[in-house]
Amino acid sequence: MAERKKLLRSLAGEVQAVPPVWLMRQAGRYLPEYRATRAQAGDFLTLCYTPELAAEVTFQPIRRYGFDAAILFADILLLPHALGADLWFSAGEGPRLSTVTTEADLARLRGRDDIHETLAPVYETVRILAQGLPRETALIGFAGAPWTVATYMVAGRGTPDQGPAHALKAADPALFDRLIALLTEATIDYLSAQVAAGAEVVKLFDSWAGSLSGEDFDRYALEPVRAITAALKARHPGLPVIAFPREAGGRYVGFARATGADCVALDNSVAAEWAAEHVQRDGCVQGNLDPALLVEGGPRLIEETRRIVRAFSGGPHIFNLGHGITPDADPDNVHRMLEAIRG
Ligand code: CP3
Repeated sequence: MAERKKLLRSLAGEVQAVPPVWLMRQAGRYLPEYRATRAQAGDFLTLCYTPELAAEVTFQPIRRYGFDAAILFADILLLPHALGADLWFSAGEGPRLSTVTTEADLARLRGRDDIHETLAPVYETVRILAQGLPRETALIGFAGAPWTVATYMVAGRGTPDQGPAHALKAADPALFDRLIALLTEATIDYLSAQVAAGAEVVKLFDSWAGSLSGEDFDRYALEPVRAITAALKARHPGLPVIAFPREAGGRYVGFARATGADCVALDNSVAAEWAAEHVQRDGCVQGNLDPALLVEGGPRLIEETRRIVRAFSGGPHIFNLGHGITPDADPDNVHRMLEAIRG
């Protein structure tokens, strides 16, 4: 019974004594079994586009820890790839893409209707997962939010301050807005196809939302997420949406109401006690343990885990980290964290 899954109950607003838990990047390099499958695939993109292997790494943390949700193994940069950008991951350097900074670059991209050929293996991964997950485990699909994806497309790589995207938005707002509009439309179709394949929840990762302020935050972090959420809910009534405007700070307040998202994911720069009072009043929140504690372990891991569970115990909550688990995390610390949550 889909309604009985713990994750979906929190997303529907239910307060649970023991919150559901999963971790961002739960399939990742901290797990030896991930490193083995990654080596078998050869490179990261092949892993993403080989459904059997992508499904295998998605299952691995579920087998090891029994998390309440599995998140599709893919990457937010597959969408620009499907739109026609070149994409490669060079070891130690992170992602690299061909850049979009001119009208001609934008004109060379494909339209929203042409993304599915490249992304078909991702939908197949979702189908394998929907078939093979334990019945109590919810399946989360995801995409990057338009602003964050645009920051990579404009710069051609990750940047510390998203400078190139800020510069383009200032120099040629019409061009920048057309890129955001294309990403918004393509993201709706991409996530809709994930849902059609069996994703039960979708999450929008806006990792660089924190570099937007004032009207820019409304225009580029809030509005695209509102539009995507509305379109998805129109196509898939009842679909829960998790929004992650990372490092939004004070702008977390009211974000769920303004976008229609069912849950706001919190990074660990905000205090759980503050977020319980100002953000959780609007509904479910997710977060927000510091990922560094899964490296450090010890008494602080247990104390902080308990503190977060306690702080959010008055409302609907999904336990998670404030950002992805890091490659140097100790897999045994994840067991210790789970023990502190589930008792
Ligand atoms: O959470 C999950 O387990 C699902 C899979 C997932 C990945 N990336 C796999 C991945 C998800 C949800 C993402 C999202 C993603 N990808 C974001 C948003 C979340 C965030 O972390 O802020 C961003 C910005 C990206 C872009 C990206 N992909 C970067 C910057 C990098 C390099 C950094 C790094 O950790 O190496 C990636 C690569 C990547 N995506 C890896 C994984 C497991 C590591 C690749 C490897 O195995 O070598």
